[in-house]
Amino acid sequence: MKKQKVQRNRRITKMDRSRDLSRLVYLYGNDIVKSPSFHKTKEHIQHGTITVHQHCKDVAKCSLAISKTFRIKCDQRALVRGALLHDYFLYDWHDKDHREIKNLHGFYHPGIALKNAQEHYDLTDIERDIIHKHMWPLTIVPPKYREGWIVTMADKYCSLLETVRIRRGRKRGISK
Ligand SMILES: [Fe+2]
Ligand SMILES: [Fe+2]
Repeated sequence: MKKQKVQRNRRITKMDRSRDLSRLVYLYGNDIVKSPSFHKTKEHIQHGTITVHQHCKDVAKCSLAISKTFRIKCDQRALVRGALLHDYFLYDWHDKDHREIKNLHGFYHPGIALKNAQEHYDLTDIERDIIHKHMWPLTIVPPKYREGWIVTMADKYCSLLETVRIRRGRKRGISK
């Protein structure tokens, strides 16, 4: 009974934290999240069944969680906005028509995302740096600001979780 109560309280705390992070994402990135062009990222898959839209929101929340957990002082607004736009490349990199892009997607998409983001939104230096450098160390130049380091780590963590989920799904499919 006591164990169930502890588990329930833990679940509630986790949900409260997630809600708090979502609130901050909308506080700093509401105009981006609500814009029709950002909605286009719902049409493209990142990994498995996760859309680019969901991935970018997850990376924004995870970036905030990292900065809070490790008490890293940073520009939260830039952190959220850079994370939301870090994969704003606006194409499906799994698509057969993009076979050439698919092979080099990791190298090129930060530049494409930055170009698109600059056309659609006003960006600060920190936000530009987050988008352009988030694939480090694949793209050799490291982030200049701590916000960039946080998003780079959050992106890798979220991508890892998405890949693990695909593998688990496949294993379940095989064992059926
Ligand atoms: Fe990316
Ligand atoms: Fe990403």
